[in-house]
Formats: sequence, structure tokens, C-alpha cells
Amino acid sequence: MDIKNDFMYSISKLQEKVNDFISKDNIGREPFSLYDPINYTLKSGGKRIRPVLVLMACNLFSDDIENAIKPAIGLEIFHNFTLLHDDIMDHAEIRRGNPTVHKKWNENTAILSGDAMFIKAYEYFLDCESPNFKEILKVFNITALEVCEGQQYDMEFEERDNVTEQEYLRMIELKTSVLLAAALKIGALIGGANVKDANLLYEFGRNIGLAFQLQDDFLDVYGDTEVFGKQIGGDIAANKKTFMLIKAQELAQGNNKTQLNDLLRSKDISREKKVKAVTEVYNSLQIKEIVQKKIQELNKKALDYLNKVSVLEDKKSELKKLASKLITRDN
Ligand code: IPE
Ligand code: IPE
Ligand code: MG
Ligand code: MG
Ligand code: MG
Repeated sequence: MDIKNDFMYSISKLQEKVNDFISKDNIGREPFSLYDPINYTLKSGGKRIRPVLVLMACNLFSDDIENAIKPAIGLEIFHNFTLLHDDIMDHAEIRRGNPTVHKKWNENTAILSGDAMFIKAYEYFLDCESPNFKEILKVFNITALEVCEGQQYDMEFEERDNVTEQEYLRMIELKTSVLLAAALKIGALIGGANVKDANLLYEFGRNIGLAFQLQDDFLDVYGDTEVFGKQIGGDIAANKKTFMLIKAQELAQGNNKTQLNDLLRSKDISREKKVKAVTEVYNSLQIKEIVQKKIQELNKKALDYLNKVSVLEDKKSELKKLASKLITRDN
């Protein structure tokens, strides 16, 4: 197939396209109590990484990205749905600098509006016209299920104190990175890529996604609430088995080790004190440097896959730029 392909969209142009679409897309139906939280969430900003990845991957193989817009929006709606439920599970009160849906409304609303968003996501996928439609829907389905699996592990790990680095990596692969990987694969399939290239992009996304979640965990400790848009310290407060905590458990000795164990078990210490004390243990063990090194490692692995994709090197520049932005971001 001869696909005309010499126009390259920039990251910001694609973000603008996604935001334009979402800003015009109001669900103005009754009961408003079901749809208002959906509009509130979708219009509250966010980096729009997943839809941009769909469009960028499509654009690698085709000038025409119009057919990729609906599934791109579908993936963004799906992602936003997971945030509504995740914020209940994580007792998070702030998202994108605003109160979370379960705080602004209530938990039942966040559950049900989330469910409705999941269905809306499928509605957008249905509008995708592609000879690969069945394959695209299959990728979406498997991925959505994997996200649930990852979230289940994430919750279960809160109660365990022997989670290994390998288990952690598998958990974040499921809860986070497969969605970035699927975004790229779906975009590539819509753009007319062959299976080999679509799978290479999936692997690129899987590794970028791991690095992306490591950076999210990093910012949960070392970020600035004003910029990050989420309350700092939520992971420490919930005993989330992040890469940083697992490394600290591995490396801590003597006083540090006793203190870390006590902090993880203690029920009556204030959130503020716990976050501060665990962060001090991390500081003394140079966890910051260890996590940043791991992020670089994963980024490099990701780029090895991107390099193998059979399109001209010039076309990959925006994706490389995005990968680097994702791991150096502060929000
Ligand atoms: C938040 O995702 C959930 C994670 C997987 C870490 P993003 O950091 O992409 O959130 P928004 O959409 O930009 O707010
Ligand atoms: C997010 O993990 C994974 C999903 C939403 C599926 P986090 O719980 O770390 O995400 P944030 O930090 O709340 O955005
Ligand atoms: Mg979570
Ligand atoms: Mg969370
Ligand atoms: Mg997080």
C-alpha cells in the first residue's frame, strides 16, 4: 500500500486538536448529576498523553489522522474514568489542581460517572473506520482488563511488605504502561502500519510507560503540589509499594531499617509526620538518584524499539521528544 506520508504534526498541535475536540464535546443530558462530573473531569486539563500517542503513531504512517481522532478521544475518556475510580481507591482529594470527583460530589457519583465514561469510551471506538477495527477493539479490551489487574495488584501490595522489584514492575506495566503501549499500537494500526511495526511501537510504549509511572511515583514524593496537581505523599501515606520504597527496604540498614519498618506499621502517626520521616529515609539512601537511573535505563530500552520501526528517522523525532518530556516532567 502506498500511503502518502510527509506531513508531521507537532506534539503541541496534537494536544490542541485533542483539547479542541474535548472542549466542544459536552454531555448535556439528564440526570446532570451523572454527566456534570464527566464534563468536569474531561475539561479539567491533563497532559492528554494517550490521545496524542494515538495520533502520533498514526501520523508515522499516514498524513491523514482524522480517523484516529475518535479512538484517541475514547482512550482519553477511558483514562479519565480510571482516574475517578483510582482516586476513590487511593483516597486522593486533589487531581489536576481541583477537588477529585468523590470529594466534590460523593463516592457513589464517582463510581457511576466513571462507569458511564467507560461506556462512552466504547462509543468513540465504534466510530473508528478502519479495516483493522476488530484488532483495534481487541487491543483496547485486553488493555482495559489489564489496567484492572494492575490496580488490583497495586491495592494488594499495600498490605504486603515483601513486594519485589520484579512484582512492582509487572504491576505498573499493567496499571499504567499497557495503556500508553496500546495507544501507540492502535494509532499505528489505524495509520496502516504492518503488525511488526505496530508491535515495536507497543514495546516502545510499554517501556516509556514504565518510566512514566516511575516518574509519577518520584513526583509523589519530590514534586510540588501546585505544579503536580496532586497531593504529595499519598503513596507514602498508603504504604504503596513503589520502586522507591522497595529500594529503600532493600538498602536500609541499622536505624534506617528499624525506622522504615516502624513507619510502615505505625497506625497512629500523622500523615504529615509519616511522609516527612519516610522521605528522610529515602534522602539518606539516595533513592532519588537510584530511581532516576532506572528511568534513564527504561527510556533507553524504549528508544531501542523505536529505532527499529521501519519509517524514516526524521519522522520519529516528535515521539522521541515526547518520551523525553514524559520522564523529565514535573506535572
Ligand atoms: C495519571 O496519568 C495516572 C498515571 C498513570 C500516573 P497522567 O499523569 O497522564 O494524568 P493526566 O491525564 O495528565 O492528568
Ligand atoms: C495510576 O496510578 C494508575 C491508574 C489510574 C490506572 P496512581 O495511583 O499512581 O496515579 P495517580 O498518581 O493517582 O495519578
Ligand atoms: Mg492508584
Ligand atoms: Mg492514585
Ligand atoms: Mg501516582
